[in-house]
Amino acid sequence: MADHPLSHRTETVRDARRPPRAAPAIEFAGVHKWYGAFHVLRDIRLAVHPGERVVVCGPSGSGKSTLIRCVNRLEEHQKGAIRVHGVELSASSREIDRVRREVGMVFQQFNLFPHLTVLQNCALAPVWAEGVKRREAEDRAHALLAKVKIADQAHKYPSELSGGQQQRVAIARALCMNPKIMLFDEPTSALDPEMVKEVLDTMTALASEGMTMIVVTHEMGFARRVADKVVFMDNGEVVEAGDPEEFFTAPRHERARQFLSRLLH
Ligand SMILES: Nc1ncnc2c1ncn2[C@@H]1O[C@H](COP(=O)(O)OP(=O)(O)OP(=O)(O)O)[C@@H](O)[C@H]1O
Ligand SMILES: [Mg+2]
Repeated sequence: MADHPLSHRTETVRDARRPPRAAPAIEFAGVHKWYGAFHVLRDIRLAVHPGERVVVCGPSGSGKSTLIRCVNRLEEHQKGAIRVHGVELSASSREIDRVRREVGMVFQQFNLFPHLTVLQNCALAPVWAEGVKRREAEDRAHALLAKVKIADQAHKYPSELSGGQQQRVAIARALCMNPKIMLFDEPTSALDPEMVKEVLDTMTALASEGMTMIVVTHEMGFARRVADKVVFMDNGEVVEAGDPEEFFTAPRHERARQFLSRLLH
């Protein structure tokens, strides 16, 4: 079939229309990871392009957190390569520092410093890791707190905020480092249902500004609205990766079908 004149012509036309693409923001090339004898990531091949929004879903224990934690080297892979903006992650601490400055991360449990105010939480890393003057870091923090719609909470402590507000502080804090990529690990799953929307709205706004994002979430409405690509993981493997509408209406693999039907019921 490959030599059929028509199929050949179709390929050529499609190639000609395809816009040239920059190097991937993140690339997993045959990545494996083990925890002791346990094979947690199995031959992961995945590219996330600049400005792309990728949602990762899959059963508990399938390796989703491990996958994104490898991007900023909170976890180390043992085989294959991970490249961030074309630079391969290695053991070099200078490189790891640089990648961590480029890659912001938001966790399920907000991980704010309880003894610091919201403003201090946000200004801390720019001052200590980037050498920004305190005043400048606080101005930046105020601007980002306004952006996530909690400007009025700047002088409170985390324990005085709702879960949704704390998570928006965590997002603002990550943005204070001017990251080029944002990773989210189930950012809404510790929240009461009425607070989920405010956090998803913040993430949707970020996506609409062109931020490159990997979001581990089971918020399928968000995935449908915002994602360019859905990645379904099971048992340490990327089982399926593709268009959200196709994934939700006609998943190709039985494991994905089972997962989606469990999620709906
Ligand atoms: N530090 C660790 N040492 C040993 N095993 C680990 C470690 N962290 C995770 N695991 C195991 O690796 C597997 C994948 O964990 P991971 O946290 O990546 O899954 P997940 O898909 O994020 O799950 P969940 O949806 O529950 O958050 C699990 O079986 C887990 O028990
Ligand atoms: Mg997880």
